[in-house]
Amino acid sequence: MPRVLVLDPLAQEGLDILQRAPGFEVEVRPGLSGEALRAALAEADGAIVRSGVKITADALRGNRRLRAIVRAGVGTDNIDKQAATRQGIVVMNTPAGNTVSTAEHTIALMLALSRNIAPAYQSLLEGRWERGRYMGTQLADKTLGIIGLGRIGQAVASRARGLEMRVLGYDPFVSRERAQELGVQLVESVEELLPRVDFLTVHTPLTPETRNLIGRRELELLRPGVRLINCARGGIFDEEALVEGLRSGKLGGVALDVFATEPCTSSPLFGMPNVLCTPHLGASTEEAQTQVAAEAAMLLVDFLTTGAVRHAVNMVAIDPQKLEGLRGFLDVGYRLGLLLAQLDRRPARSCRIQYRGEVAGKDTRLITAAIAAGLLAHSLEEEINIVNAELLLRERGIELVEQSRSDMGAFSSLIQAELTTEGATYRAAGTLFGHNMARLVQLDDYRLDAYLDGVLMIFTHRDVPGIIGRVGTLFGEYQVNIAQMAVGRTARGGEAIGVLNLDTRPPEAALQAVLAHPEIHSATVIELPAPGEQPPWLGG
Ligand code: NAD
Ligand code: MLT
Repeated sequence: MPRVLVLDPLAQEGLDILQRAPGFEVEVRPGLSGEALRAALAEADGAIVRSGVKITADALRGNRRLRAIVRAGVGTDNIDKQAATRQGIVVMNTPAGNTVSTAEHTIALMLALSRNIAPAYQSLLEGRWERGRYMGTQLADKTLGIIGLGRIGQAVASRARGLEMRVLGYDPFVSRERAQELGVQLVESVEELLPRVDFLTVHTPLTPETRNLIGRRELELLRPGVRLINCARGGIFDEEALVEGLRSGKLGGVALDVFATEPCTSSPLFGMPNVLCTPHLGASTEEAQTQVAAEAAMLLVDFLTTGAVRHAVNMVAIDPQKLEGLRGFLDVGYRLGLLLAQLDRRPARSCRIQYRGEVAGKDTRLITAAIAAGLLAHSLEEEINIVNAELLLRERGIELVEQSRSDMGAFSSLIQAELTTEGATYRAAGTLFGHNMARLVQLDDYRLDAYLDGVLMIFTHRDVPGIIGRVGTLFGEYQVNIAQMAVGRTARGGEAIGVLNLDTRPPEAALQAVLAHPEIHSATVIELPAPGEQPPWLGG
């Protein structure tokens, strides 16, 4: 029975979905931290959070049960995603549910700043009628600079265009065409944007690159009187630099919904003239909260009942239909990884993967993750799956390179993986016959056709008469049944390779007897899952 923890206040619509899910046990426990949080997470299959609870590496330490954390909202900076990934826990968010609300809040703050709404009301409350004091500025015909043109940045841009503002934008991952559709003039750097704007708003995540994106040096580049707005994440503006900029008169106003440290109830900015702050209210509308709560609950229920992953922030998305379409190739990839890892036990350095034919048009990142899972499956203590395998491989300094070619070779689809270890390079290629028959069709330069399952013995030899017969006789003597045999050679009489599919693992003495043959140069036993047997992350 899936056990779900709700760790922050969540709209009733979300709780209803969880409670209606058949067999789900739901516990609402906001405000947990430290050991109590760790203990609660250790007994849950899934958790829903907003931004209050902090899911640190320590909170996940030793957790063997939790499979998913869903953030009802966008920012996942309160979750240690590295730690979650390492433990194979999927982290998902609900990226679109609060876009409009946050964009509207940004516009609200921009309007309120430009018309001194907050101090003017405050003066009324204090019994003053000061019409001359609160002269404002119009937004129409002013230039708004937007840094970060993702969902919220774009929604702000289209609203600002509706207010007849000129909009300049900077975002390295937005195309000129998309910017044009939005009526945004794209610039090439923050430095190019700053001297040209009357208002500046940021809508990026908080990353090492965006922390203190706007500091003292950047304020120097602004024209005097510019108003700044941050409804994204605290820390993108350097708050000390803002205080200085306001004091010197360089800044015309600052509106913040988010702070470097939250909750924030005291700041040198509070009470300064031309400052307007709200306590992280961007997404605080009934509509946004209902939407993110319902979406988060559905994501978690779907994941825990069908394995569907959508909006994952620490792995590629995988919905059940896509999973079905990929299952066979994921299996081939995983088996190729397992095979390569057993060919050479020396430390791996890199793995180059090539997809050719129809498979190149599929979501190959998932197949690459499956190959990585195969490479590591028998090497690490922790459980490996397609969520954590790539990260673990890269953490070990093993380079993973992926290439795709849509043209078809000898097979309609081919997955080739080349593993370089400290001693050698091995290449194995596989394909899928029908929907689920994994085949090994190439090993190094040899073409062949072998089952990619069960126990394999791979032996290199000189292509001379009698070798296959001799190996067959030897295995017969040791009661090892050969289920299938494939041979490949580069040239007649040259080096050749044999791949035997065996019913059982041959005893060491049988291997030694094979190796004693003067024309046999190497013999390696590989163990792969039985036909149809799949790893747990593929539903096996
Ligand atoms: P998004 O992922 O759709 O967009 C972020 C954009 O920032 C992307 O297009 C990305 O290319 C761009 N970007 C990243 N680094 C950049 C850089 N160095 N320079 C320029 N652009 C850069 O995210 P979103 O849904 O639009 O959310 C934006 C921010 O708003 C996030 O920080 C999110 O956590 C925050 N947020 C706040 C509230 C709130 O309550 N105040 C609500 C929702 C979201
Ligand atoms: C978000 O990232 O979704 C917002 O900051 C709103 C919230 O914290 O709930």
